[in-house]
Amino acid sequence: MEERPPVWLMRQAGRYMPEYRAIRAKYSFLEMCRQPELAATITQQPLKAFGMDAAILFSDILVIADALGITVHFEDGVGPIIEKALNTEKDVTLLQKRTIKETLGYVAQAISLLKPLLQVPLIGFCGAPFTVASYFIEGKSSRDLKKTKRWMLSQPDSFHQLLEKITECTIDYLEMQIAAGIDAIQIFDSWASVLAHAQFEEFSLEYLRKILNRIQHRNIPVILFAKGSSVFAKPLTHLNPAAISLDWNCDITQMRKIVPSHIALQGNLDPDILLAPNNIIRKEVQRILKGMKKDPGYVFNLGHGISPDVPTDAVKTLVDCVKEAAG
Ligand code: CP3
Repeated sequence: MEERPPVWLMRQAGRYMPEYRAIRAKYSFLEMCRQPELAATITQQPLKAFGMDAAILFSDILVIADALGITVHFEDGVGPIIEKALNTEKDVTLLQKRTIKETLGYVAQAISLLKPLLQVPLIGFCGAPFTVASYFIEGKSSRDLKKTKRWMLSQPDSFHQLLEKITECTIDYLEMQIAAGIDAIQIFDSWASVLAHAQFEEFSLEYLRKILNRIQHRNIPVILFAKGSSVFAKPLTHLNPAAISLDWNCDITQMRKIVPSHIALQGNLDPDILLAPNNIIRKEVQRILKGMKKDPGYVFNLGHGISPDVPTDAVKTLVDCVKEAAG
């Protein structure tokens, strides 16, 4: 009997769930991240509703801003807003790294609260330095990251300095999460897809490498997610992560020709499939399950996060369908 792959979903806790919206009606998003009891409760909501095989800590890749003295808030219907977006080399020089325990200690507290309550592994996470830098520079969500790329291409030295500072904070932040008890880490490079291949290697991959090297002694599995991970799969394999999380543009069965079998593959289902009728969801889930049936390591997931307009029944259908594949 073939074993079924484990299943969890990026953004499995979020606005598509009525249980999430009930808490969100009373608190701001950042309050929910910063109060360990709330973060712990929200982390468990999708597990209780759908029975995923892993939890991902409820938080955000941008809380790391606190550790660099950058102020971020989240506006309804807009997303993250950086109060003083970075504009010049001087802005980078002025960034002061703060103690992670003091600024982000609530993340460790949420992990400590959660660990004894969970029957499944807990995934911690952070943003890739390139993606985090892009928010600090753009000041808000942007479609094309023009300000970031203009800076990167015209003043690469100060851009590298910024990446370096974010990387140092990120390493401390991950060390704290590991010490608090998380079982795996996923690094989100959500904006890698705006980069040309050589740019990706210089401005993203090198910093991912640094992070992986520095936490290697902890023996924690690291999953690398990038929007564009199928295009960048080859360089990503050179970092030897535990897993690579794939976007939905590629044929996952073909990716094994590029990714060696000791690196697990994750993801690949188009997140918009969750907007389709249940029979289509089942068909598309089964397509991936069939393709990966004999694979040495596959983790079922989407190619990116769940969007807020997804019906809960669609998520239930997806998880049930993967779990039924056991027999
Ligand atoms: O996956 C999970 O369930 C864990 C929680 C999680 C959130 N954000 C919660 C969240 C994780 C892992 C993230 C990562 C994150 N945050 C990324 C990388 C993954 C990706 O989607 O590409 C990025 C780029 C961010 C930055 C961010 N946070 C944006 C651009 C936004 C606004 C867009 C949106 O979806 O509203 C957020 C807000 C955010 N992060 C929400 C949630 C549940 C919605 C907040 C609300 O309730 O208003």
